[in-house]
Amino acid sequence: GSPFLAWQGPDLCLDGVNLRELVRQHGSPLYAYSRQAMLAALAPYQQALQGREHLICYAVKANSNLAVLQTFAQAGCGFDIVSSGELTRVLAAGGDAAKVVFSGVGKTRAEMAEALKVGVKCFNVESTAELEVLSQVAHGLGLTARVSLRVNPDVDAGTHPYISTGLKGNKFGVAHDHALATYERAASLPGIEVVGIDCHIGSQITDVSPYLDALDRVLDLVDAIEAKGIRIHHLDLGGGLGITYTDEVPPKADELIAQLLARIDARGHGHRQVMFEPGRSLVGNAGVLLTEVLFLKEGEQKNFCVVDAAMNDLMRPALYEAWMGIVNTQQRAPEQAQVWDVVGPVCESGDWLGRDRALSVEPGDVLAVLSAGAYGMTMASNYNTRGRAAEIMVDGGQTWVIRERETVAQLIANERLI
Ligand code: LLP
Repeated sequence: GSPFLAWQGPDLCLDGVNLRELVRQHGSPLYAYSRQAMLAALAPYQQALQGREHLICYAVKANSNLAVLQTFAQAGCGFDIVSSGELTRVLAAGGDAAKVVFSGVGKTRAEMAEALKVGVKCFNVESTAELEVLSQVAHGLGLTARVSLRVNPDVDAGTHPYISTGLKGNKFGVAHDHALATYERAASLPGIEVVGIDCHIGSQITDVSPYLDALDRVLDLVDAIEAKGIRIHHLDLGGGLGITYTDEVPPKADELIAQLLARIDARGHGHRQVMFEPGRSLVGNAGVLLTEVLFLKEGEQKNFCVVDAAMNDLMRPALYEAWMGIVNTQQRAPEQAQVWDVVGPVCESGDWLGRDRALSVEPGDVLAVLSAGAYGMTMASNYNTRGRAAEIMVDGGQTWVIRERETVAQLIANERLI
């Protein structure tokens, strides 16, 4: 996936850093990210939007490490958040509250108040009920909440059902048919100022057409909303652009955006600010999960390569049956390769990282799970009382520990005997 991942002789390196050495130094399992790979993924977004009023709001949930957020803040990005926890991270990393959009179907009053006080750019509101509460909270504080409604355009993003969000049956957004009435309600509320419109149709999208369909539906609504005298300043087209895990061929960000902008202009909406909320496509292929091989266990039906990372470290295979590339960081003789299920130590049959993988491997080797920069660490848990992995940032051959390995003492610190 990443041009920053390359072989130097028999050793796999991330932006010049030997990954096996990195594990010798910092232990296993270990997440490692390339800062340059993140910036290289951002560049086509920025280039395609140059010369146009725009804001790229990195979706914090994909990878919320402070150093990752700092990287995007310094590159001029805003942020898409879904909790006050994520807001705190953005501010701690030097992000600008005025460039933050607050998404999510279940914001609490406390979260609304906090976001209002720091002055986020916009709340992406997902229901009439939320709108009413937000208005009350803002009014009570003597403030006004800038909002866009997240409309559900009812298009099929053609992705995994768990990560598809733009269909009628989803919990997300305001149904297309109710959007106009909801905008009128919004415009009448004392604590609300309508500023935009928003949609997000799913994740790991590998086609341009669902984006264009959603855009058309959104622009139809914008026309209808403005005909009622309600001004829409920005169009937020969400995130969702896919990456290559195996053989997917997603559109390039700049090609996708060029097509969307052409459609926006052709329909006479070129004066509006354009926003995106990319997550995976900015960080996914910038990261790997490194894990040491504990045991090789050959069986009658299956061979198991037992590693020290597990579903608690990287949940995507267990949760979505996601396919993620796995390679040995040290090239061994290919004729030595056998077919393995790569599994972790957690007590569940669902605890696997890869199935039926041809690998030439020995105990003590370090495997790299590829494309693990997005929705890896952020979805990690402490199941089986396993502390979460450490994280390393790599840039031009230099390394930084950007998160220390979690200790068991930290895990039990908040617990009490009775
Ligand atoms: N905006 C909103 C409102 C979202 O819900 C999401 C992701 C994004 C932006 C960013 O989407 P992206 O560009 O990363 O596709 N855990 C799953 C993915 C869940 C995505 C949730 N929403 C996975 O590992 O595949």
